[in-house]
Amino acid sequence: MILVLLGAPGSGKGTQAQRLMKERSLPQLSTGDMLRSAIQKGTDLGLKAKGFMDRGELVPDQVVVGLIAERSQDSDCVNGYILDGFPRTIPQAEALDKMLSERNAAVGRAVLFQVQDEEVVQRIAGRRSCANCGAMYHVDVKPPKKAGVCDQCGSNQIVLRDDDRADVVRKRLEVYRSQTAPLQAYYEKAGILRTIDASQSPDQVFQSLIRALQ
Ligand code: AP5
Repeated sequence: MILVLLGAPGSGKGTQAQRLMKERSLPQLSTGDMLRSAIQKGTDLGLKAKGFMDRGELVPDQVVVGLIAERSQDSDCVNGYILDGFPRTIPQAEALDKMLSERNAAVGRAVLFQVQDEEVVQRIAGRRSCANCGAMYHVDVKPPKKAGVCDQCGSNQIVLRDDDRADVVRKRLEVYRSQTAPLQAYYEKAGILRTIDASQSPDQVFQSLIRALQ
């Protein structure tokens, strides 16, 4: 199945995509992770994307559409994949549908993670990630087993993401409302949208997600 996870910044898409990836053996295709990896490697794409991301704006559609078009051809995507943070605009959703129809495929389900802004701001303020491998933590909900050390790779670079500063988070929420929220109607019209309460605990959200896929 090709699955789209929709939701505001900090609504828990990445957390649940990682759990689903293990449960269903489907790869997680996160445009945010791909762009951060390009920035870390200092590629042209990374240099181009960094300014947009640091300001809380969206990277141009053609850049992210190109990333997904390429990554989704990899052999691990043959049985489907989880799109985390893509599409994020109507033109991206249309480009995805066009690309998939040329491959005789289609999005099977879009799941909208619903959560209040105050909860999102609190989650993002506590989020930390490993600058080396990208593993994600939260200072209260999911701290690393040993303070400051990544459980997955052992690095001691547990950091706050550059775009997780309060002013940038406010901008990201604004951008979400104006450019990404219209995707709810887009996928509702296609008859494939399910909405889940993402304000529950991570285990409860996961159960809701599994039900939404049935
Ligand atoms: P991206 O990396 O996609 O960020 P985002 O969508 O803003 O989402 P987040 O990663 O902030 O949140 P999430 O929903 O994954 O929540 P998480 O699971 O981490 O994009 C970053 C930037 O890249 C964009 O602003 C844009 O510039 C660019 N970009 C990316 N894709 C693009 C596209 N398609 N087009 C254009 N530009 C694009 O959880 C958050 C925290 O909460 C964590 O600490 C977690 O541990 C905790 N948490 C999770 N679930 C729960 C729970 N149930 N209860 C309590 N805490 C929880």
